[in-house]
Amino acid sequence: MSIEINTLVNTLLEKMTIEEKVGQMTQVTLDMVLKGSVYEPERPFAFDEEKLVDVLLRNHVGSILNVPTSEALTRQQWHYVVATIQEKAMKESRLGIPILYGIDSIHGASYTQGATFFPHQIGLAATWNPAIAKTQGAITAYETRASSIPWVFAPVQDIARIPSWSRIYETFGEDPYLSGEMGKAMVSGFEGDDISSFDKVASCLKHFLGYGLPLSGKDRTPIWIPEHFLREYFLPSFQAAMDAGAKTIMINSGEINGVPVHANKEILTTLLRDELGFEGLAVTDWEDIKYLHTRHRVAATHKDAVRMAIEAGVDMSMVPDDLSFCEHLIELVNEGTISEERLDVSVRRILKLKYELGLFENPVIKEGANYDKFGSAEFLEKAKLAASESITLLKNEEDLLPLAKDKKVLVTGWAAESMPSLNGGWSYDWQGATSVEFAKDKTNLLQAIENEVGKSNVIFSEGCKYDEVGNLEDTIEKAATVDHIILCLGENSYTEFMGNVNDLDLPEAQVELAQAMIKTGKSVTLVLLEGRPRIISEFADKVGSILLGYYPGQEGASVISDIIFGKTNPSGKLPYTYPRYSNALMTYDHKHAEAVELQGSEIPFNPQFEFGHGLSYTNFEYGSLLLEKTVLTEKEYLRFSFSLKNTGSRTGKEVVQIYIGDDYASITPSVKRLRAFRKIELKVGEEQQVDFVIPMKRLAFVNAQNEWVLEEGTFKLMVGNLTAEFELKND
Ligand code: BGC
Repeated sequence: MSIEINTLVNTLLEKMTIEEKVGQMTQVTLDMVLKGSVYEPERPFAFDEEKLVDVLLRNHVGSILNVPTSEALTRQQWHYVVATIQEKAMKESRLGIPILYGIDSIHGASYTQGATFFPHQIGLAATWNPAIAKTQGAITAYETRASSIPWVFAPVQDIARIPSWSRIYETFGEDPYLSGEMGKAMVSGFEGDDISSFDKVASCLKHFLGYGLPLSGKDRTPIWIPEHFLREYFLPSFQAAMDAGAKTIMINSGEINGVPVHANKEILTTLLRDELGFEGLAVTDWEDIKYLHTRHRVAATHKDAVRMAIEAGVDMSMVPDDLSFCEHLIELVNEGTISEERLDVSVRRILKLKYELGLFENPVIKEGANYDKFGSAEFLEKAKLAASESITLLKNEEDLLPLAKDKKVLVTGWAAESMPSLNGGWSYDWQGATSVEFAKDKTNLLQAIENEVGKSNVIFSEGCKYDEVGNLEDTIEKAATVDHIILCLGENSYTEFMGNVNDLDLPEAQVELAQAMIKTGKSVTLVLLEGRPRIISEFADKVGSILLGYYPGQEGASVISDIIFGKTNPSGKLPYTYPRYSNALMTYDHKHAEAVELQGSEIPFNPQFEFGHGLSYTNFEYGSLLLEKTVLTEKEYLRFSFSLKNTGSRTGKEVVQIYIGDDYASITPSVKRLRAFRKIELKVGEEQQVDFVIPMKRLAFVNAQNEWVLEEGTFKLMVGNLTAEFELKND
């Protein structure tokens, strides 16, 4: 903490009563100060004066989040909301402390009308381009600040290891290194060097720790993770983003090994504070202190739940729908169960952040900032670039794509006209359903294809709804009249537990449409818009080409059509393993035992598409892999080079992926782990020598004693189709 901010915080803290301190540690949802009830505010929304007084003045609440349910606001409305709250809190209270407003700007300032929407994080990860993640963070920060809000609940640094989990699309995928690199870049885009700047915000790493591995595949259900696995796989992506300066974290709503993380002092204090040295603010997730009592049942009363969470290390409670947290915590302090010094630790962090954000001087918008780039053409171009580098060409038999523009095409599948399938959740509202209304002027897939090749070349027949067969006869008849079929399938928008599924297969109605289209004998391009990899193995082998769009955002349709018709050369690569069967859910970094067949038992790893897979309209050739040294100590750097040549007929971008496998180790080694990557653009015929330097310590793993170690032995380096061996041998 700078000396000046330190003094300011201490001076303020000395003046505060217990009630005022507890208020600072309390966060409620905006509905709490609006007319109507929580989850059902009046429409159009309006402030309730009595509630404002109760929440902000009587209970001294220090933080507010969210948007009135299902009502994305304009920038002017956001300004009015935040200004009203700040005025009440700062002008009418004893100490004049500003409110810290937080929002889920998950893929752009997605609760503000007119904001620039980017791909969700899973698509961003598929770009394998940290520079794009930084730009996405920076534009999101700009537009969120332009909406008068200084704090975003992003990026999600969870590692997604269970394909059916409904929050896969909010993550950077299954690999810790890729997630760490993308997260670092995004945090620096959000925060820059100075979060008080008019175009920067504080970021919030979610959801610390281990959220991405619910055993049942359902959101917020029990997680079982041995400590060495937790440290090796789930911690590094957070660590990387913390090292990049992230100011806050949000806690995992789930339980790990039977202990809810919100009550876990080992994770929230011993690990996070004592070991990692994180000094920022730790906020709970939605209602999670109450859930210690009502869902997890480790606390017999709500008051005991508050005690547990505070003792574990929580700084701020996202209560969010009443003032019970204040009441219980004040009681706990007054009766001596929780010390006032304990409150000071958290309140210091909260006040520090408010000073760092410059909220005392500029509680709403920084004077003189005009935000004329909000929603600008320049920003839209950046969103399109992000989407275009994310779209992943999974299959392209006999170079079916790109399609010639004079071909007659049938566009079918409900996703062709679906805006929620482009935007996903966290778009205008929590579940993203209101994309239908707010993004009605944006281009859907069908319109994008029509714009590209002209209406006369396009026939449309919906074929099916998400899980309901449509007028198949009509679709089959129309298919007979065209040269090619573009089949648009996938998922609706959803998030969190609302997106739980019992079956990872695509709904039957969609499979039926796919089979019917294949049966016509026409060539088929499958376009998938989906938040997680829904199983397509029943028909994937029979379609000619497959494009995975993830949730590319509302600028994504034209980008996909540009790829289909060859304006853009695809360069996205899968950030997760695309499964072939719902009972064969393995990650790319699986163990050897998962790939070695035992007596013909046919268990080997055989996903639909591998992590890192993605085709281009050009070809790349790897050659001449050369290691500077093949015997190294743990303090040294592995230096190597190889050549990369564009041998095809178009300029293209290749993601060079460096994998290393440890041959033998005291904890069963993975077949390979991603240890470095770089996206490289090459013109036709261009060749480049590519150099990498990897510190040997990056090859360490966590052993059974939960310590990071590097064991001597041989390793295999893999890049493209090339391999080389090297050895770690200490002097
Ligand atoms: C989600 C968080 C989100 C928070 C605030 C929770 O339900 O798990 O990711 O930031 O709500 O909206």
